[in-house]
Amino acid sequence: MSVPLLDLKAQFATIRDEVVPALLAAVESQQFIMGPAVGELECAVAGLCHTREAIACASGTDALLLPLKAMIASGDEVLTSPFTFFATAGAIWNAGGKPVFVDIEPGTFNLNVEQVADAITPRTRGIVPVHLYGQMAVIERVMSLASTHGLMVLEDCAQAIGARRRIDGAWRMAGELGTASAFSFFPSKNLGAWGDGGMMVTQDADLAARLRRLRTHGGAKQYHHDEVGTNSRLDTIQAVVLKAKLAYLDRWSAARRTHAAAYSAAFADLEGLTPPVTDPANEHIFHQYTVRCERRDHLVAALKAAGIGCAVYYPTPLHLQPCFASLGYRDGQFPEAERASREVVSLPVYPELTDAQRHEVIDVVRRALR
Ligand SMILES: Cc1ncc(COP(=O)(O)O)c(C=O)c1O
Repeated sequence: MSVPLLDLKAQFATIRDEVVPALLAAVESQQFIMGPAVGELECAVAGLCHTREAIACASGTDALLLPLKAMIASGDEVLTSPFTFFATAGAIWNAGGKPVFVDIEPGTFNLNVEQVADAITPRTRGIVPVHLYGQMAVIERVMSLASTHGLMVLEDCAQAIGARRRIDGAWRMAGELGTASAFSFFPSKNLGAWGDGGMMVTQDADLAARLRRLRTHGGAKQYHHDEVGTNSRLDTIQAVVLKAKLAYLDRWSAARRTHAAAYSAAFADLEGLTPPVTDPANEHIFHQYTVRCERRDHLVAALKAAGIGCAVYYPTPLHLQPCFASLGYRDGQFPEAERASREVVSLPVYPELTDAQRHEVIDVVRRALR
């Protein structure tokens, strides 16, 4: 039995009767740019994230870039993780900032906050914590450091929509506490569009107004430009799809957690494989179920031979990417990010995975490492 890493066709089968008529209605309206569904989606995402404002845009990358353009100046240092998708640091660079990398915690793969504190300099302007694989970084400590040093915080929530963390006895959502936060609706994300899409959220009404301007060439009024922005709108038809899918997000996340718990129980006694660690304060949404394995190449080969989808997110940490050579980092500087890049592999954890498929993945992994 082959098992894909992600099965969007299986997901489509469960929502087809709802989404296709809604999509057809949007097409019949012929209002493709900023139609009513965009505003409705913004309200729904603000509600989910407990934020005052949500501003849709064209991608998760733009959802990082526009707040950075609004909040940092050329040459400002911005602290972030070297173990993330490229866009996190690429956006800092493209906004004119200097990415300054800080190592990760080995358990959660998220930023090591002690090391963030040590990396702050007079030139530091902000921190971009990434909630990797669907669980939140220690955001309360990031926020408290930021407040002590007068820094902005941009949460990279691209992989963490609906994730939450218990802080001082209350649940706080991914995206709720940062100065601004960025979401991606890339099709493979837990809430995926049928193309590119993104969302920025913030509690700050002035910042939200600025982000709204930046996504439409920097003008609040047509043909009047207060600053230079760009075209980063979300298509109406993507908003229609996302609005329909949003109603399923909680149950999809719960199904992902069920699969993750079953995998972790089945792998608990397996030598040579470390299941992912969930910080007890976190409710994980398992965008990825990512294990560590010292014999990763062997495991990946066995999975591939058995027709099981898997992927390595991410094989090269960002401080070692050729495009950042001018930043002067070297191999060995962030040992945990580098070790993670050598050891991680993600297994199928999509909501529609059947029990039989999950058992097949478990069998293949166990046989490979016996
Ligand atoms: C952590 C992280 N940041 C940013 C992005 C960029 O999002 P998009 O692909 O929608 O531009 C992604 C998506 O792949 C991501 O995983």
